[in-house]
Amino acid sequence: VPQRTFVMIKPDGVRRGLIGEIISRFEKRGLNIVQLKMDKLDRNRAERLYAEHKGKPFFEELVSYVTSGPVVAMLVEGDDVVSVVRRMIGATDPKEASPGTIRGDLALSKSENVIHASDSPEKVAYESSVFFP
Ligand code: CMP
Repeated sequence: VPQRTFVMIKPDGVRRGLIGEIISRFEKRGLNIVQLKMDKLDRNRAERLYAEHKGKPFFEELVSYVTSGPVVAMLVEGDDVVSVVRRMIGATDPKEASPGTIRGDLALSKSENVIHASDSPEKVAYESSVFFP
């Protein structure tokens, strides 16, 4: 199924100079970058993006981390791209992420895990709207 997904390179990914490496992996996989934007989230937009985690013990840490510097938001297109990109990214906890995945190769911290991607087509619409109104 042709699809789009929402991907965000988080502040640690930008700080560590991983933008090119990450975009390159998507391009080499044969996916298309159809929108791309560097942006900085304020508290309000971060809370909107992560509304589903409000009330969780790590929520405050998550909001302050994700507002700590610029992020890169993009829409990526391809066949079954929502699940394909989630598999390319690997488990939320990079210690559990398989080698060969983005987190498995580039991250070690469960909170500062380099990248986010939508986990369902419904979330794609919601999360994209925070960056691409
Ligand atoms: P992400 O896939 O963007 O979805 C929610 C984010 O919350 C997750 O990546 C992590 O950055 C963060 N997160 C999830 N679980 C924890 C946790 N137990 N402790 C700290 N941060 C977490």
